[in-house]
Amino acid sequence: MQHFYPLYLANKAHEGADEALEVVNKYDQQIVAEVARADEELLEQAIAAGVQAIPAMQSLKSYQKQRILLDCVAKFNERFDEFTEALIAEGGKPEGAAKAEVKRLIATFQFAADAVTTLSEGEVIPLEVTEAGAGYRGFSKRVPIGLCGFVSPFNFPLNLVAHKIAPAIAAGCPFILKPASYTPIGALLIAEILAETDLPEGAFSILPMSSKVADKLVTDERIKLLSFTGSDKVGWDMKARAGKKKVVLELGGNAAVMIEPDADLETALPRVITGGYSQAGQVCISVQRVLIHKDIYSQVKDKLVALAKKVKAGDPSDADVVIGPMIDKAELERIDQWIKEAVQEGATLLCGGEAEGLVMNATILENVSHESKLYKDEAFGPVMILEAYDDFDKGVELANDSRFGLQVGVYTSSIKKAMQAWDTIEAGGVIINDVPTFRVDNMPYGGVKDSGFGREGVKYAIEDMTEIRLMVVKD
Ligand code: SIN
Repeated sequence: MQHFYPLYLANKAHEGADEALEVVNKYDQQIVAEVARADEELLEQAIAAGVQAIPAMQSLKSYQKQRILLDCVAKFNERFDEFTEALIAEGGKPEGAAKAEVKRLIATFQFAADAVTTLSEGEVIPLEVTEAGAGYRGFSKRVPIGLCGFVSPFNFPLNLVAHKIAPAIAAGCPFILKPASYTPIGALLIAEILAETDLPEGAFSILPMSSKVADKLVTDERIKLLSFTGSDKVGWDMKARAGKKKVVLELGGNAAVMIEPDADLETALPRVITGGYSQAGQVCISVQRVLIHKDIYSQVKDKLVALAKKVKAGDPSDADVVIGPMIDKAELERIDQWIKEAVQEGATLLCGGEAEGLVMNATILENVSHESKLYKDEAFGPVMILEAYDDFDKGVELANDSRFGLQVGVYTSSIKKAMQAWDTIEAGGVIINDVPTFRVDNMPYGGVKDSGFGREGVKYAIEDMTEIRLMVVKD
């Protein structure tokens, strides 16, 4: 890995203005690199360059945008190991999870490259449907929205960056991205590759910067769309202050999975373990609430606890490790505190709840009060809580007993229950016979309630980054 990573201002490497940011290895806390940071002045230059680049981005032909995206795909493949190494160090990701994320980065750019071929499709709109429309014809097409501002989170330093910038390129929008300060290296590696493409001058800036500096992405009217992935508190505050711009929010969750007596437990339970503990639970759709039909509660509980005790936690560079470190000490202390509070409020700790360094082991609780933070809020740690329900309706009620609604998993072999779940669960996605922690990067992904606003998943993000423009022709 390099010792110093420049930022990218208007497509070019730049030494930065603010004091450099130190990036630590999340497991051993050693400094792995320094990263250039932007101040207000550099952000202003990026915005001005982005505005200037609007016509050039808008007039890129589909084949040109596709070539740029495919160029990136080829270079990501060439530098696969470098991306993996960066994710392990800056994100504390076990190797398997890191490799899976690099593959998803590549797939997301490939989906965007595929999407540009259908982008220019519009509609012919029948207007001669009223007397007033007689003699008129209507046509629509999509046009890029303009300069976009992106803020990405620490938990997927590559793929959640890709979900913003690949659709922006496909849509023909210039953009400025602020990567998470914990994990900026992945985004800067992507920037190095973008800088080698034929993107028009000024089309992109990738700027590590403080949240204070980045606030201009929220308030500046030259930015036409703000896409934020992160905590619900920050996201909704941004939306309240974003003025006239379009806002897309991918926020948190406390995802539930329901397990019915007709489920195939042999396949379900190992998946629940993966869904709860991969990436130390630092995933917005991590399994947090396991809702189990009362008839199978005690056997499911015993099996899950036995499986959880076998989950290896520790150094992410060790091939067997599933649970790596929490992103920092404050996050570890927070989740530890939430577990202790839940126990004081009547919960029973069934396993885990212990930490070594920044690594917490696989934790399961039951009898958690619905008033506990561990039930109501987003745990974002390797913690699952178990709860029994009497019948399917009650299970759905419990799944919906949340201020969040990102994805819910339902294990059942009944098509009737699957349809009922799809009809009545208040979430952006209902996953039948798998955990909520399921995502393929072309599916619509996003939430309802406190979980957010709008959808990502390349095609859906492109829709947000473009506007319908109508043409009416009078005969
Ligand atoms: C997230 O944490 O919101 C993203 C989950 C994923 O892309 O798998």
